[in-house]
Amino acid sequence: MSSESTVIQFWVNDEKVEAPAADGDMSLLNYLRDSLGLNRARYGCGAAACGACTVVCNGEAVTSCDQVLSELHGVRVETPESLGSEVQPHAVLATLVKHQAVQCGYCISGIAMRVKALLDKNPTPSKQSLDMALDHHLCRCGTHVRIKRAVYELAGIGA
Ligand code: FES
Ligand code: FES
Repeated sequence: MSSESTVIQFWVNDEKVEAPAADGDMSLLNYLRDSLGLNRARYGCGAAACGACTVVCNGEAVTSCDQVLSELHGVRVETPESLGSEVQPHAVLATLVKHQAVQCGYCISGIAMRVKALLDKNPTPSKQSLDMALDHHLCRCGTHVRIKRAVYELAGIGA
């Protein structure tokens, strides 16, 4: 049996990982959290509805709770851990913090990943495209106004 058929190879934050092909039905979210110890992608609904688990796969924001490992061979995954630390945060995180958009923080990792993916493709997206991107995310703390203010600033749009 070839090595390709026994493992699923992909990249997580530029590190190559190999998951057993037998785990092909496992969700990417569970793999990140339970196998790799990467806990910043959050489990919210488990049904691709809240956005808390959002990561970036090959440049596209996706909910990791409904991605299965068997479909990830060769894919480059970016997780919220790629957005730096409290001391040296990515600009998206730093701007969310600046606007006090982070309350409990549960939704923020997913939002930050979706906004990063959008800005990586187009640094000056329209307000409408930003609003549509944020529609994928629930914030139970109700900080949507602050989140939008931060995201508009990142795109160079006045609130
Ligand atoms: S946990 Fe994945 S979208 Fe809610
Ligand atoms: S800051 Fe608490 S869910 Fe958004």
